[in-house]
Amino acid sequence: MASAYNIIDHAYDVVVVGAGGAGLRATLGMAEQGFSTACVTKVFPTRSHTVAAQGGIAASLSNMGPDSWQWHMYDTVKGSDWLGDNDAMEYLAREAPQAVYELEHYGVPFSRTEEGKIYQRPFGGHMQNYGDGPPVQRTCAAADRTGHAILHTLYGQSLKNNAEFFVEYFAIDLLMSDDGQCQGVIAWKLDDGTLHRFRAKMVVLATGGYGRAYFSATSAHTCTGDGNGMAARAGLPLQDMEFVQFHPTGIYGSGCLITEGARGEGGYLVNAEGERFMERYAPNAKDLASRDVVSRCMTLEIREGRGVGPKKDHIFLHLDHLDPAVLHERLPGISESAKIFAGVDLTRDPIPVIPTVHYNMGGVPTTYWGEAIDPRNGGPDATVPGLMAVGEAGCASVHGANRLGSNSLIDLVVFGRAAAIRAGEIVDRNAAIPETSRAAEDKILARFDRLRHASGSTPTAQFREKMQRAMQEDAAVFRTQETLEEGCRRISAIWDELPDIKVTDRSMIWNSDLVETLELENLMVNAITTVYSAEARKESRGAHAREDFTERDDANWRKHTLSFLDEAGKVTLDYRPVHVDPLTDGIDLDKIAPKARVY
Ligand code: FUM
Repeated sequence: MASAYNIIDHAYDVVVVGAGGAGLRATLGMAEQGFSTACVTKVFPTRSHTVAAQGGIAASLSNMGPDSWQWHMYDTVKGSDWLGDNDAMEYLAREAPQAVYELEHYGVPFSRTEEGKIYQRPFGGHMQNYGDGPPVQRTCAAADRTGHAILHTLYGQSLKNNAEFFVEYFAIDLLMSDDGQCQGVIAWKLDDGTLHRFRAKMVVLATGGYGRAYFSATSAHTCTGDGNGMAARAGLPLQDMEFVQFHPTGIYGSGCLITEGARGEGGYLVNAEGERFMERYAPNAKDLASRDVVSRCMTLEIREGRGVGPKKDHIFLHLDHLDPAVLHERLPGISESAKIFAGVDLTRDPIPVIPTVHYNMGGVPTTYWGEAIDPRNGGPDATVPGLMAVGEAGCASVHGANRLGSNSLIDLVVFGRAAAIRAGEIVDRNAAIPETSRAAEDKILARFDRLRHASGSTPTAQFREKMQRAMQEDAAVFRTQETLEEGCRRISAIWDELPDIKVTDRSMIWNSDLVETLELENLMVNAITTVYSAEARKESRGAHAREDFTERDDANWRKHTLSFLDEAGKVTLDYRPVHVDPLTDGIDLDKIAPKARVY
């Protein structure tokens, strides 16, 4: 029975859920201001998926040539295929240099130029001169282990500022008041089986993306969209879930990431005819076109019979022409990954690669300060008291329909920091930490208990594989009405079958069976909102490429999708306007107005 659970109580000004780059930057910012701050995380902070971020973090430092924050903003607007919110994109580009210098001062060991400045490399879609080119060197790197370097530094700084970490605690659900305020979170401590109530004046979701809704992803197995699941179960909307990014260069077979920095350092893609085909599709940017574009071109090459390998189902990435010393210094991580996951010595042979699910542009809708939005609270930008979302879990929307490579790490730190600044303004230090409702808690525990004792006939892993295959096949790089309707049908059928789930382990301590079941329910929330949002959007934009609606349709579809999900698995869609006004008047509006997106 749910009431049989004893709960250990905690009270903090702020509780951050998740300890990746955004979670740690928010945690640090909150703690620096003197807020009592807890960071609740299901994995040890330095094992969060940010650790796998390779190529770098975008900021217009101009260390390697001319650049400006206006060019960075323009590239982000264009990369988003004009779905991003201009206020958020301006904030990102303007704040980026300062955020990187701050990281440098915190201790991130960036690679250096001869003069000792932060080293910057080219990345896809980042150009000089408002997109005219040539490619700009904007992506600040710590070799190809930039996320690793940032994560370790932010964790150390958070500890130094007395943030408290609750490590290997699985956040189950948000504690919401009857009038829609978020007041905390219930979490399960995995190593001793205890349950914990974290009451807070502000909860920040920083739980990352949901790559594992797909069969092949660069994401860690822990990327199960837990925050989106919690928000949807709290009755809140998810935004722009149809936009799922495929990274061009996942290693064929394993899906392991080969950084875009490889092409930034001079790598190039070839088809079975040995042709550098990107020259044909993107004469200007070539292999450094935006990653949605490159992924589609690779897919077309494979479809048209020019894939490599015995099944002609992948593409080669060449780095073997580069100086081995450069590979050793700039790309040591992928040199290892290529060896381990593809058996390739990249100084001699090409790496077999294929577009692989990498990033979710959608998530909990937020202001650029990270405050969660629910338009039903009083208009398109009405906020949810007590709740913020940052990083891949949030949708500010700074990436719109497609994120540029290296704009993720900068998003994490800029908006993690913004959330802390905003909390400093709106969290009342003198107010009491809210008491939570017993009814809300009972509901959460009843669900937990139901899953713990689930005694159907279908193991969690079987449901997960069915979901992943449906997503992989029906919500792929290219989509049609037929595939998307089939995706909706398959995912809804899985939803309806979920009551038949079978959990074998009933224990509370290190019950990975139950963890995976809770994660599956979260993944299903993400999967079902993705396919229904995608089916409804009758245009092509960014990562949402429809073969039956090949053009972008700004007149009808330059708007954000909101998806609401009920317990029966019914998705209801609504829309909210894109913020077309930038933050300041320092922006040339003609420059950022929608136009054809060519590279
Ligand atoms: O290719 C990469 O290094 C990935 C970077 C990113 O997703 O921002």
